[in-house]
Amino acid sequence: MDLKQRLGILGAGRLGEAIARTWLARTGDRPLVWSRSGPRRRNETRGAAWVTNWSGTLEAESLVIAIPGRPLLDLVEGSSQARQFKGNVFSAAAALSRTSLRRVFPQATIVCFSPFLIDGVNSIPMLLLRPNDLSLAQWLQAKTELQNLGDFDVIEDEKVFEQIALLGASWPTVVLAAVQTAANVGVARLQDENARRIGRRIFFRAINALLSQGTCHEVATPGGITERGLSSLPLVVNLFENVFQQMQAHAAELRV
Ligand SMILES: NC(=O)c1ccc[n+]([C@@H]2O[C@H](COP(=O)([O-])OP(=O)(O)OC[C@H]3O[C@@H](n4cnc5c(N)ncnc54)[C@H](OP(=O)(O)O)[C@@H]3O)[C@@H](O)[C@H]2O)c1
Repeated sequence: MDLKQRLGILGAGRLGEAIARTWLARTGDRPLVWSRSGPRRRNETRGAAWVTNWSGTLEAESLVIAIPGRPLLDLVEGSSQARQFKGNVFSAAAALSRTSLRRVFPQATIVCFSPFLIDGVNSIPMLLLRPNDLSLAQWLQAKTELQNLGDFDVIEDEKVFEQIALLGASWPTVVLAAVQTAANVGVARLQDENARRIGRRIFFRAINALLSQGTCHEVATPGGITERGLSSLPLVVNLFENVFQQMQAHAAELRV
């Protein structure tokens, strides 16, 4: 009987824990987990098998990288165990290029993925980068394993992958901060705290309704109040373009 664990996970932060929990729930298989600060007491990783040395995760058939790019290279660079590893390496480290991964895991099947964590859901939707240097058999085997975590979309161009990956978590976080700022602008001239609270509640209820309808044009009566506001949107578009470009530039600076 083959007792080899199927999944090893480097890192037990938000992502590492989510992957460990989802993998265990969906496969019944205990992942091997390593984290710099040792075993967590939190429920999420209770079912995992902890290893004391990072290289212990290489005992598994596939390895998930759930720590940032630079620390991963500091940890693994020069390791003969990493060089000999022939399983799958699934990297979620946004800053890690395939070139660096190939250098430290020259014999592994490397697939970069971008997970989108959603609270309370027993799956992790993902974006996968399909490399052009894998055989069809390697690709099919790797994606079958990743399918255990959730559904995915596939992109074949690394630059396009990097840009779309920003749309999963980073960009929505910035947009939410902007929406909260907009709520504050809307209530800024209200002196009464209760009125401010009601104003914010009504604003977010309307935002929710518009998001679920998927459009805001129905409420824009031609010549009406909303129409005048929408006519100023190009200013906001320029601002958002600038913010997104800065995020892309910073992601490129972090690449290792
Ligand atoms: N969370 C997401 O939704 C998400 C989505 C896509 C990609 N990612 C990528 O996944 C990676 C982890 O993200 P996260 O959200 O899980 O972050 P996190 O909650 O901050 O956890 C970071 C993990 O990296 C470890 N770590 C940090 N610096 C380290 C070092 N110098 N040496 C060894 N381990 C180190 C931490 O260990 P300790 O616990 O010991 O501090 C922890 O396990 C990042 O590269 C991120 O870009 C995350």
